[in-house]
Amino acid sequence: MANPDFDSKAFRQALGKFPTGVTVITSLDEQDSPVGVTASSFNSVSMDPPLVLWSIDKSARSESAFSNATHFAVNVLCEAQVETSNRFASRGEDKFSGIDYETNEQGVPMLAGCAARFECKTWAVYDGGDHNIIVGEILEFEQSSDLKPLVFSEGSYAVTGAHPGLD
Ligand SMILES: Cc1cc2nc3c(=O)[nH]c(=O)nc-3n(C[C@H](O)[C@H](O)[C@H](O)COP(=O)(O)O)c2cc1C
Repeated sequence: MANPDFDSKAFRQALGKFPTGVTVITSLDEQDSPVGVTASSFNSVSMDPPLVLWSIDKSARSESAFSNATHFAVNVLCEAQVETSNRFASRGEDKFSGIDYETNEQGVPMLAGCAARFECKTWAVYDGGDHNIIVGEILEFEQSSDLKPLVFSEGSYAVTGAHPGLD
């Protein structure tokens, strides 16, 4: 760390004041085995062309799989998928065991029961300090009108709800 006085714990806490959704990003590794990680760094980038981004920790087991993948999918979890989030946030050997999924045209795993799913072609991979920033071009997407998204806020899972100040 360049600045020894930098308080990384406080930095994390401050970042937690910005609630996010929770995704599982999936792809195939160099041996064509499915890989997946829980990620809250997902965000939109561009409408034309349609681009999204997320970032992968360079120390993650699946970092090289994602940094070299030609395609990946963003599975936006719904409020009933806390267990799925925890599963893909672990370093377990077989994260897909017992998980309901199908594969898309490129063989990328697409998880069942998600609030939304985006199928992406890798557009660019940028260096981002201890993470790589992965930008994807949207090839296909779908959403479920009746499933509400899972939220991650201040280090805990949460759900969305109308603001009490609104009618
Ligand atoms: C809510 C939540 C959000 C996360 N967001 C990210 C993220 O955006 N990028 C990342 O690299 N890891 C993120 N993680 C941590 C990874 O899911 C975790 O390190 C995982 O074990 C990586 O898997 P792997 O080592 O098998 O590749 C997040 C974890 C949780 C619980």
